[in-house]
Amino acid sequence: MKKILISPSIIASDLTTIGEQVRGFDPGLIDLLHLDVMDGNFVPNLTFGPGFIASLKTHTGIPLDAHLMIEKPELSIDRYIAAGPWSLTIHHESTRFPARVLQQIRDAGIIAGISINPSTPVEAIYDLLPYADMVLVMSVDPGFYGQAFMEPAIGRLEKLASFIDSSGMPDVRIQIDGGINTENIARVVRAGAQIVVVGNAAFKGGDVNKNVRNLIERANKDR
Ligand code: DX5
Ligand code: ZN
Repeated sequence: MKKILISPSIIASDLTTIGEQVRGFDPGLIDLLHLDVMDGNFVPNLTFGPGFIASLKTHTGIPLDAHLMIEKPELSIDRYIAAGPWSLTIHHESTRFPARVLQQIRDAGIIAGISINPSTPVEAIYDLLPYADMVLVMSVDPGFYGQAFMEPAIGRLEKLASFIDSSGMPDVRIQIDGGINTENIARVVRAGAQIVVVGNAAFKGGDVNKNVRNLIERANKDR
């Protein structure tokens, strides 16, 4: 049984103090930090860019999992690579050159991820899998934290997991992002998710370590 990785999404926190907050995060529980980069164009919301990622890296040893919700990532990918995250995930819908961008990320020694919105058929990225280390399946329309989980994501995870399995690409990881909580985490894990992003469910009430411990317990209990 593979270990499930939990990636709390920091946009659900108070971003003005996140550099301090991360010092209290237990690296034994929190495997990754999910960074939602939004450009106000690909998605209606605007967050932060490569400078912020580079700064956050000086405050924590927890690997940074950057989710780029930006148009034409090919125009700025060099800057995100230079910021030194653990992973960089681009959206299939955001570029005409996904393979080239994925290759650039990989060549830099960074995990290369490809993401699909809920309305994009899973099959759209099958031919990109040889260039990707990770697929991020969105279970909400991207842009905001705290939205409700979209149920069809379960079938999409199953379909993708079975394709990856039957194609002999066991190293491609599946990440799920959007509306995950203690009630549905076990189901997304059973359906094939190995990296689970949690925004609201990780930060609500303020005790991130406790929330993540609960989520891991629930994920493993019903597996
Ligand atoms: C949505 C983001 C998600 C979001 C997750 O555009 O990509 O990472 O912050 O937050 P929750 O878990 O609250 O949906
Ligand atoms: Zn995200």
